[in-house]
Amino acid sequence: MTRLILGQTLSFTADPFAVPAAEAVRHERRGAVLVEKGRIAATGPADTLRAAHPQAAVTDHGDGLILAGFVDSHVHYPQTAIIASWGKRLIDWLNDYTFPEETRFADPAHAAEIAGRYLDLVLANGTTTVCSYCTIHPESVDALFSAAEARGMRIAAGKTCMDRNAPDGLRDTAATAYDQSRALLQKWHGRGRLDYVITPRFSPTSSPEQLEALGALWAEHPDCLMQTHLSEQTDEVAWVRDLFPGARDYLDTYERYGLLGERALYGHAIWLEAREIARLAETGAALIHCPTSNTFIGSGLFPTRQHAVAGQTVGLATDTGGGSSFSMLRTMAAAYEVGQLSGTPLHPAQLLWLATCGSARAMHVADRIGNLEPGKEADLVVLDLASTPAIRQRAARAETLWEAVFPTLMMGDDRAVAAVYLQGRPAPRGGA
Ligand code: GUN
Ligand code: ZN
Repeated sequence: MTRLILGQTLSFTADPFAVPAAEAVRHERRGAVLVEKGRIAATGPADTLRAAHPQAAVTDHGDGLILAGFVDSHVHYPQTAIIASWGKRLIDWLNDYTFPEETRFADPAHAAEIAGRYLDLVLANGTTTVCSYCTIHPESVDALFSAAEARGMRIAAGKTCMDRNAPDGLRDTAATAYDQSRALLQKWHGRGRLDYVITPRFSPTSSPEQLEALGALWAEHPDCLMQTHLSEQTDEVAWVRDLFPGARDYLDTYERYGLLGERALYGHAIWLEAREIARLAETGAALIHCPTSNTFIGSGLFPTRQHAVAGQTVGLATDTGGGSSFSMLRTMAAAYEVGQLSGTPLHPAQLLWLATCGSARAMHVADRIGNLEPGKEADLVVLDLASTPAIRQRAARAETLWEAVFPTLMMGDDRAVAAVYLQGRPAPRGGA
C-alpha cells in the first residue's frame, strides 16, 4: 500500500556539526512523506506529492512535525523497573539497585514482561530504535528480540557479560560468555530488523580472559557491533587502573584484547586522556552521550561539541535506568543543559541530529534509518509542537522554525508524541 503522511517535514542534508547548523536542515512547512512497502519513497511539498500520487492513502497530521524516529544508542532495558533510584553514585548504584534487579532476569517470564513494557514505553516516547544491554541470561536477550520482532522494531542488543565483581547468579565465565554470545549471535544477528551486539559490561566486571574471548568473538564476526562502558566516573577510572596495572589507560583495557574498532560504541566516555581521544578518533569508534545519566548518577560533563566538531562519531542516549528518562526529548534537553555548563550551547538542529542521524551512525545503520530520505525504512515520529499549555504559549511567540521547535525539545514529553510509524505503519500503542 502507498501511504502519504502529511505535516511539517524536517530532514538533514548535512551534519550540523560540520556546516552551520541551520543550513544542514531541509524543512517543508506543508510537507509529506510518501511510503511504499515500508520505505520512504519520497519527501517533498504535500501538494506536489498528492498530485503525483492520487491513489495513496492520506494521513494528515496538520502542523505536526514529522521526522525520523528517535534512535537511542545506549540503554539497559533490564533496568526499566529501577529507573529513578535515589542517592547513589555508579558503583553503589550498580550493587544496590541494578544487580539485584538484573538477577531477576533468570526468570524468562520476568524478562518477557519487562521487555514488552520497555519497548512500549520507548515507542510512546517516539523512539523507534534502541541499542540495548540485556543481562547475563541468554533468556533476557531472547525476550527483548522477540518483543522487538513482534512490534516490527529495528533494534540491536546483546548479552551483558560479567565474570567478576558481580554477585552470585550474575556471573558467567570467559568460556560461557563466548559460547552463549556466539549462540545468540547466530540465532538473532541479521534476522529481520535485529542485530546482535557483543557486550562486555565494562572492564571491572570482566577478567582479562573474558575480554580476550569476546575480542576473539568480535574478530570472527566483524560485522557485529561491540558495546561497553568507558570512563564514566573518576572512581571507576581509578578502579580500572588498579585492576589492570599493565594498561596504559582505560581504553587500553579494551584495545589490548581486540575490543577497539570502528563498530565499537563506548557509553559515557567522559574522563578521557589525550591518548584515548586520539586513538578513538583514529579508529572511528562511537562515543555515546548519556546526559540524564551523567547528571543523575553524578558522573560529569561530556564535551559533545568538542568531539563532534573534531569528527568523532557521537550518539545520544537515555542510558535507562542510570538515565532518568525514557524520552529522547528529555535527553536532548539535558544535552542542551550540559552543553551550556561547558560553555557551548547546542543548536536545536544539532540536538535533533544527535537523536536521529548521530545515533544511527554510531550504530552503523544510518543507511537504513535516522533521516527522511528516499530508500530509508519509514520509522517516523510526529511531534505536536504545542502539546501542553506551557509549550503552546511559548511556541505561539515563535518567529522561526527553531523557536517553534525548541520549547518542545526543552519541555516536551510523551504528550508531544502525536504519532509513531514503524516501516510506514502506525506503531502499536500500549502493547503489540
Ligand atoms: N557501568 C557499568 N554498568 C553500568 C550500567 O548499568 N549503567 C551505567 N550507567 N554505567 C555502567
Ligand atoms: Zn550503560
